Amino acid sequence: MKKYILIIGACGQIGTELTYALRDTYGSENVIASDIREGNEDLMGSGPFEILDATDYDALEEIIAYYQINEVYLMAAMLSATAEKFPMRAWNLNMNSLFNVLNLGKEKKVEKIFWPSSIAVFGLNTPKSDTPQSTIMEPSTVYGISKQSGERWCEYYHHKFGVDVRSVRYPGLISWKTMPGGGTTDYAVEIYHKALSEKKYSCFLKADTSLPMMFMDDAIRATLQIMYADAEKVRIRSSYNLAAMSFTPIEIAESIKKHIPDFEISFMPDFRQAIADSWPSSIDDSSAQKDWKWESEFDLEKTTEVMLKNLGV
Ligand code: SER
Repeated sequence: MKKYILIIGACGQIGTELTYALRDTYGSENVIASDIREGNEDLMGSGPFEILDATDYDALEEIIAYYQINEVYLMAAMLSATAEKFPMRAWNLNMNSLFNVLNLGKEKKVEKIFWPSSIAVFGLNTPKSDTPQSTIMEPSTVYGISKQSGERWCEYYHHKFGVDVRSVRYPGLISWKTMPGGGTTDYAVEIYHKALSEKKYSCFLKADTSLPMMFMDDAIRATLQIMYADAEKVRIRSSYNLAAMSFTPIEIAESIKKHIPDFEISFMPDFRQAIADSWPSSIDDSSAQKDWKWESEFDLEKTTEVMLKNLGV
């Protein structure tokens, strides 16, 4: 059967690159990009695009029927830092969009769903290093609470209604094609832009705050890998731990200095420090490695090289 794919939140940091990757594989016409607002010209020009509010069930159902969609990637969400400012809006967006796609799955209107979770599901009482797949969670942010609840609902819909929903807990994601927006790990993207444009960067986290991170190519590969793994291999239907590297702001600055020797970093921690402090410093992703053969390719040095090369003027 022919595959028609819908990406919700296609103009965001992950959605943009996921759209390109899926269009490369399945053909532009078969991959429908959608977002609440228009994105950059490249993305808009690369295939079909629909304006879509992910919380509007009727609008979503109409697009699914019109394009005969069988696979949905729900990438729309409000991230950790912004969600602290608008808790109810974040909860409504993050949860209602998920219920909409899960209910379409339950009604057999779509066959397969991808929904991302995050390291934000973990909290202060979680073991901080090599955080296991199953452990104490107790998230302390609005975003983390929405992701943990989402995980429970995914598992519930899978077991109760047979919905084929798949998920990974992304670490902070580093990419050069589209900026992230409203996250706590965003510093690890901003720093490259500022290193190139101003040779200095004022970081909103402390020098020694270690967080799990991943280069976007790895994240996209993981996403496609779990989506196209045999269903019985995807044993965990809440969400899989996923890891590539961990580093601190001072370590990323050091790796940039190898290319831009006069780069300078300074530190001015703000409210995002408390969010970062509640998250793990490294993640044990052995379940993903075992179940669907996950393996990362990008470490910090390779990430820095690729980021500076692609952003450099
Ligand atoms: N990168 C996200 C954030 O910082 C975490 O999933 O909010």
